[in-house]
Amino acid sequence: MSYQIDIHTTNQSRLNELDFANIPFGKVFSDHMFIADYRDGKWQNCRIEPYGRLSISPAMSGLHYGQEIFEGMKAFKDQEGNPQLFRPEMNVNRFNRSAKRMAMPDVPDELFLEAMKKLVALDKDWIPTGEESALYIRPFMFATDEYIGVQPSNTFRFIIFTCPVGAYYTKPVSVMVSEEYVRAFPGGVGDSKVAGNYGAAMMPYTVAKEHGYNQMLWMDGYEFKYVQEIGTMNVFFRIGDTFVTPSLDEKTILEGVTRDSVIELLRDKGYNVETRRVSIDEVLEAHQQGKLKDAFGTGTAATITHIVTIGYRGTDYELPPVEKREVSTQLKQDLQHIRTSKVSDSHNWVHKIQEEPLAVNK
Ligand SMILES: Cc1ncc(COP(=O)(O)O)c(C=O)c1O
Repeated sequence: MSYQIDIHTTNQSRLNELDFANIPFGKVFSDHMFIADYRDGKWQNCRIEPYGRLSISPAMSGLHYGQEIFEGMKAFKDQEGNPQLFRPEMNVNRFNRSAKRMAMPDVPDELFLEAMKKLVALDKDWIPTGEESALYIRPFMFATDEYIGVQPSNTFRFIIFTCPVGAYYTKPVSVMVSEEYVRAFPGGVGDSKVAGNYGAAMMPYTVAKEHGYNQMLWMDGYEFKYVQEIGTMNVFFRIGDTFVTPSLDEKTILEGVTRDSVIELLRDKGYNVETRRVSIDEVLEAHQQGKLKDAFGTGTAATITHIVTIGYRGTDYELPPVEKREVSTQLKQDLQHIRTSKVSDSHNWVHKIQEEPLAVNK
C-alpha cells in the first residue's frame, strides 16, 4: 500500500549555516521533518514540512505518563554521493515491538520506510561524508490525548527528523559497574526503546560522571552480577580469541542493530562469538589472567567505542591499549565501509534511496 505524503518544502534552507567540518552531535537539525497523526484507528495527515516547533496541550498524556518511544538510525552517502540507509527494517521492526509493549499503534513498515526515504532524499545535501559522520535519523511517537487519566492514549503523533552528526564519542570510554541502580528487569521495558529507560538512567549517569567515568555498565538487578549493557551501547568482551556479549534471552537489553552486525562480521572473519550470560567476575578474572584482550560498546550513534577502564568496587581495571585491538578497530572501519558502499555489501544490509521525483506542494 502506498501512502499519500504531502510535501511542503521550506523556501529558506538553513544548509549554508552548517559547518561540515565541525558538526556537533545532535544539535543541528536539517530542513524538514515528517509528521503523521493517529486518530480513529488509523494514521492520517501524513506530511513533510519545514522543521519547526510543535504546538501541544499541557495536558497531553505523553508528557505525563511517558507513552513515548523512539529509534535512532543513520543515512550515509555511497561513493557516488547517493543517499542510503543501513538495515532500516531492523529499526522499523524494533520500533513496532516497542510500540506493542507500550500499548501504542504500530507504524506500518511501508509508511515508515517511505516517509524516511522521502525525507532523507529531500534533505540529502545535509548528509555529511566526513570520517564517522552521517545523517542521524530520529523517528519517535508519543501519546497525544488531552487527558490526564492514567490509561493508554487513543491518539498519537509520529515524527521523523534528521540531523547531521559527527562522532558521538570522540575518545574511548571508561565505565563504572553499577551496583546500586538498575536499568532493566525481566518483564520490564529494557528491550524496548522507550523514553523512560533513558530518563531513569540520567541520575546514575551523573553518578558515574562524578566518579570520573563516562558511563554506567549496567548489571542485572537481582544479583548485580551479570552484565547487561551501557547507556546507549551493547557491550562485547574479547576473552582470549572468543568474543562474548550478553544474550537477548532475558529481554533486558536492547537488540542492537550494530550488535547484530558485529556478531555477523566477527563470525565472517572466523571468530567464535558467544551470546550468553556474562558475569562481571568472569570479565575481571580474564583481566587478571591477561586474557581480556578487548572490550567495546556498539551502537548506531557510537559505532564501535573502545572501553579503556572498568571501575568496580573502587578499583580501576585498565584494559590493553587501543592500538593493540586490531580486530575491533578493523571492524569499525569495515562497518563504515559497508555503510558508505566503499566495499561490497555481501549481507544486503544497505538500502539505496531511489531518487524518485518528489511531488512537492510548496
Ligand atoms: C540502550 C541501548 N543499547 C544499545 C543500543 C545500540 O543499538 P543500535 O546498535 O541499534 O543503535 C542503543 C542505541 O540505540 C541503546 O540506546
